[in-house]
Amino acid sequence: MIESTYPEKASANKAGLCQTDGANTADPIDVYVCTNIDCKNRGAAQILKELSELAQITTGESIAVKPYMCFSACNIGPNVVIPAKRCWLSGVRPSDVGPIVGYLEGGSDLPHLREQNEPDLEEMIFAIIDAGLIPE
Ligand code: FES
Repeated sequence: MIESTYPEKASANKAGLCQTDGANTADPIDVYVCTNIDCKNRGAAQILKELSELAQITTGESIAVKPYMCFSACNIGPNVVIPAKRCWLSGVRPSDVGPIVGYLEGGSDLPHLREQNEPDLEEMIFAIIDAGLIPE
């Protein structure tokens, strides 16, 4: 059996609702940015770069921004997933980078970045992550 890195929060949290409380961990909060072809064609590389830089500047080591292979939500990317907060953000633009870091620091939720999300797909994304299928 594969142990999940993340606590079992899926059943305790409604689909489509990002948590605004802390991740309750001393470990960095992982933030995954899909960098596969469709998301890449919509600017994912720039989002990954800017999110990494801003997170480093504003939070130091407390946020770890990493590339991800594909969340199977290719038509609504670029996609960003924050497993510890059960948060999937879609249609992310460079102008969203600042608000995402603000959210990670305890700021406001970002419902406009979940308008396109499909609940079934969201459930699948977190099930895959909970199963341990995440990059090291
Ligand atoms: S290409 Fe980004 S979710 Fe598939």
